[in-house]
Amino acid sequence: DCRIAPVVADHLQGNGLGTELLKGALGILRQRGCRHVILFGGTRTSNAQAIRAYEKAGFRPAGVFRERGIESVDMWLSLK
Ligand SMILES: CC(C)(COP(=O)(O)OP(=O)(O)OC[C@H]1O[C@@H](n2cnc3c(N)ncnc32)[C@H](O)[C@@H]1OP(=O)(O)O)[C@@H](O)C(=O)NCCC(=O)NCCS
Repeated sequence: DCRIAPVVADHLQGNGLGTELLKGALGILRQRGCRHVILFGGTRTSNAQAIRAYEKAGFRPAGVFRERGIESVDMWLSLK
């Protein structure tokens, strides 16, 4: 199992790069035998753009947690 934390530079976001980045990263992880992928630290529930990008890649929510007053959601993907 492995963790990822994808980031696209602020001025380039919303142009499909994150979607392509995720496809490429997940392809490499699949080739290397990774079975499950989780987000490194989850993502904020207010971050609709990131949640949409992860959902498009097949990620599903695993649970919501709160740290220092900030609500985040863990998301995971099965590559099996
Ligand atoms: C999350 C991140 C990697 C996504 O990369 P990106 O290049 O912006 O994503 P894309 O352009 O490929 O796709 C974003 C999707 O969200 C949608 N979207 C954009 N703004 C949105 C909003 N406010 N609400 C809902 N969906 C939104 C886009 O329309 C697109 O979906 P679509 O293809 O169905 O139209 C990037 O935004 C990022 O680096 N954010 C800052 C760091 C971060 O939050 N990382 C994740 C923490 S775990």
